[in-house]
Amino acid sequence: MKNATMHQLRVFEVVARHCSYTRAAEELFLTQPTVSMQMKQLTQAVGLPLFEQIGKRLYLTDAGQKLYTTCKDIFDRLSQFEMDIADMKGMKQGQLKLSTVTTTKYFLPRILGPFCDRYPGIDVSLKFTNHEGIQQYLHENSSDLYILSQVPENLDVVSYKVIENPLVVLAPYNHPLTKERQIPIARIAEEPFIMRESGSGTRQVVQKLFDRHDLKLKVRLELSSNEAIKQAIVGGLGLSILSRHTLALEGMTKPLAVLDVAGFPIQNYWYVIYPSGKQLSVVGRTFLNYLQQEGEQITEASAFFN
Ligand code: PGA
Repeated sequence: MKNATMHQLRVFEVVARHCSYTRAAEELFLTQPTVSMQMKQLTQAVGLPLFEQIGKRLYLTDAGQKLYTTCKDIFDRLSQFEMDIADMKGMKQGQLKLSTVTTTKYFLPRILGPFCDRYPGIDVSLKFTNHEGIQQYLHENSSDLYILSQVPENLDVVSYKVIENPLVVLAPYNHPLTKERQIPIARIAEEPFIMRESGSGTRQVVQKLFDRHDLKLKVRLELSSNEAIKQAIVGGLGLSILSRHTLALEGMTKPLAVLDVAGFPIQNYWYVIYPSGKQLSVVGRTFLNYLQQEGEQITEASAFFN
């Protein structure tokens, strides 16, 4: 490998990630023959084929797969090193990679505003997925921090409780139940219900609650988006249980109403987690401290819940 260059490894990482010379050339602003030439030289340096072409598709060979894992490791360490050096020079800079569940899109981008103002050298990349998707990202170690509200029990992670996440029962504003107080939960089970998709953390909580009360929900529709569920409630398709954060911008005014159900809101929390043993980067630590100290206050101050 002593003839391989850092540039070749960078090009390889991009080709391997996309499994395509064309897409790698686009991302790197190189021509395709340049990319092919770099990969040819790297293959010679390694002494084994790195890719194989089957039909029109490019696949990593076993040697290619091993090199890909090694490259990710090298580039991760290098970027950690750059961040440490920047920190030693008194600057916070580098890339902050966050993976977070879809429901946080109602408050996390707002929280990021003041954070990015304070630390202009930090670039943020935010990936949204559901609870199940977060577990996959954790497995791939693809981010600095992961934000969700159900800490996975089957994984060895470090977790910090940072912000409240109350779950509420939503109905259209003109639904007859809006006039009632302390509605028994069994009454909710009689109404048509709109459920999040399987793999959603919100769904897990809702399902557990109704199982605990030995009640079966009348699920009329399954939707994988909070926003689509809100529209479906307004469309009269049923009730649902969602995070109160989903109302952050419109507030609890028409066309949606929060029902007064006994035992609600369910008091949940948002957690920041990362795999045990992971060395948190400087920017990861900075963001975690920021969330712990200011997250709740900024979230509440910029939402219209009342
Ligand atoms: P969800 O996330 O988008 O997967 O429902 C909420 C949660 O983590 O509980």
